[in-house]
Amino acid sequence: MTINFIGAGPGAPDLLTLRGRDLIASSPVCLYAGSLVPEQLLEHCPAGARIVNTAPLSLDEIIAEMHAAHAAGQDVARLHSGDLSVWSAMGEQLRRLRALEIPYAITPGVPSFAAAAATLGQELTLPGVAQSLVLTRTPGRASAMPDGETLANFARTGATLAIHLSIHNLAQVVDALEPFYGADCPVAIVWRASWPDERVLRGRLSTIETLLDDSLQRTALILVGPVLGSEDFQESCLYSVGYDRRFRPQSADSPFAVNTPGDERADERGEA
Ligand SMILES: C[S@@+](CC[C@H](N)C(=O)[O-])C[C@H]1O[C@@H](n2cnc3c(N)ncnc32)[C@H](O)[C@@H]1O
Repeated sequence: MTINFIGAGPGAPDLLTLRGRDLIASSPVCLYAGSLVPEQLLEHCPAGARIVNTAPLSLDEIIAEMHAAHAAGQDVARLHSGDLSVWSAMGEQLRRLRALEIPYAITPGVPSFAAAAATLGQELTLPGVAQSLVLTRTPGRASAMPDGETLANFARTGATLAIHLSIHNLAQVVDALEPFYGADCPVAIVWRASWPDERVLRGRLSTIETLLDDSLQRTALILVGPVLGSEDFQESCLYSVGYDRRFRPQSADSPFAVNTPGDERADERGEA
């Protein structure tokens, strides 16, 4: 018997992994975070499954559900939106399960930042423009930010920012970022990425507040950085003609040519 934590994806019911779907289909109990997990995913549950929306439950009540299933020898499918590695509240559930010696397994899901990038038709790391992506948020009523994790500190790096849980704080986001990225820096807001009613706002730090209206609340990502919409970037070496690499050695003398001692050395350096 296992508690299967499953990343349910950003919203579109078919953005679920095959493993996740099969685990839902084989688990007689399904606990789902109803505030964001799409109800269509519940169609994968077997007939007669016990299906519980955990949005109105406390952590104690959720663990009690898992404990009861464990005592009955029943597998549980535990669904959270997007991927489980960020802002899923999985950590506290895992800690309780470890204390109770109840086994669990984790199946990743498509995170909302990836769905938003797909909607925008955008790579978030472009050569020579940005090579880092920061997944962050602003402080909320229930969650203070640790010292040092400020937007200003992340902005100093010039990386692409994917700011979650913050659409209601857009003015604060703009104020914090403008001194670093400049008023002309592109911004995109993707609301309900991958849902049928998804919406996109594109603007600049100087204009984005004027574009937002009250209809876009809660489930939105704010993406900021010079990569957005940029056509002014280098091509990566990976596919460039003449670039010597493990999968495309350029000559018999290449350190990447098969069966040369250099091949192994390049492998060790991670340059293959
Ligand atoms: C509690 S967090 C969950 C994050 C999730 N675990 C993930 O992997 O993306 C909820 C926040 O994620 C973002 N989010 C989740 N789903 C989204 C979607 N379909 N479109 C845009 N943003 C989304 C929003 O910023 C929302 O406030």
